Amino acid sequence: MGIFREIETAVHLLKSGELVGLPTETVYGLGANALDAEAVAKIFKAKNRPAFDPLIVHVASVEQASSIAHVSPTAKRLFEKFSPGPLTIILSKKSIVPDLTTSGHDTVGIRIPNHPLMLEVLERSNLCIAAPSANPFGYTSPTTASHVDQQLGDSIAGILDGGPCSVGIESTILDLTASPRILRLGGLPVEALEQELGPIEVQLSSSNPKAPGMLSAHYNPGVKVRLFDSLELLEAEASNINRSNVAMLVSGSAIERQHWFHLSKVGNDIEAASKLFSALRYLGGAGYDEIWTHLHPESGLGKAINDRLKRASFRTQ
Ligand code: TXA
Ligand code: MG
Repeated sequence: MGIFREIETAVHLLKSGELVGLPTETVYGLGANALDAEAVAKIFKAKNRPAFDPLIVHVASVEQASSIAHVSPTAKRLFEKFSPGPLTIILSKKSIVPDLTTSGHDTVGIRIPNHPLMLEVLERSNLCIAAPSANPFGYTSPTTASHVDQQLGDSIAGILDGGPCSVGIESTILDLTASPRILRLGGLPVEALEQELGPIEVQLSSSNPKAPGMLSAHYNPGVKVRLFDSLELLEAEASNINRSNVAMLVSGSAIERQHWFHLSKVGNDIEAASKLFSALRYLGGAGYDEIWTHLHPESGLGKAINDRLKRASFRTQ
């Protein structure tokens, strides 16, 4: 079927136990009925995802979240403040959620996504929708419907086109099953959560089996990524060479030259995040041997961008 635009088609396919590529504000998800173990099994197969990596479940409201998890007062407050939006909260699950969805954990990650089409699919179907990022395991997350089509089009029923994702990096994951911990830096800055909860421990350990999406090597763009500690260091090194096989992926740089690609000319991390994955994907397939890029200032979305860049460059340097 490929890419389509009718919400009813997505609803029908999901209700029939099929896999559908779905737009969210962060990245495209590979959706299935979260309470149907057979449908969920198809997600793991299509993505080649290890069965120990639990899925995020998308819902339309706190009420719907309460049907599958024990929503604590703190979780309710955070959902009310930040949702719909790029926040996933890990809560203790109710038994209605199949073990396959949560990889056997007694917890479930829940998110209310901020995309009008996705919210309509959730509301009209009345389903809870399990949806990991719609990429083969280990690769860059998709931020357009055609990204999904290119990598997974043959193994899924179709993709609902909701345009390019506005946030562009995945949700922030907050574990509230014990004292609050961030398991993944993402589209909601940690600082925003800390304003509500006070200082929060950030535990991104790549060996953390609770969030295998955090493996060191993830977001593989297919070519070597060289990561500089700052824009200034990249610019200094780049001025010494003139190689057409290297693409520069920069933010906040005034340099206009062939093979230079700007995430945000003014160095705005919200704009940079929204373009990051599509830039990595494009440059990975544009015939370059290397991508040179740099760390961003460590605040707001800069932290989540740096996390992605470190993983994209891991072992490719
Ligand atoms: O922005 C997003 O969160 C996107 C969109 C589609 O919503 N989804 C996404 O899903 O990034 P995925 O599967 O690519 O990443 C989910 C991460 C994984 O690292 C997984 O290990 C972690 O969430 N996770 C899911 N359920 C969990 C749980 N119960 N406990 C700990 N980590 C969990
Ligand atoms: Mg993913």
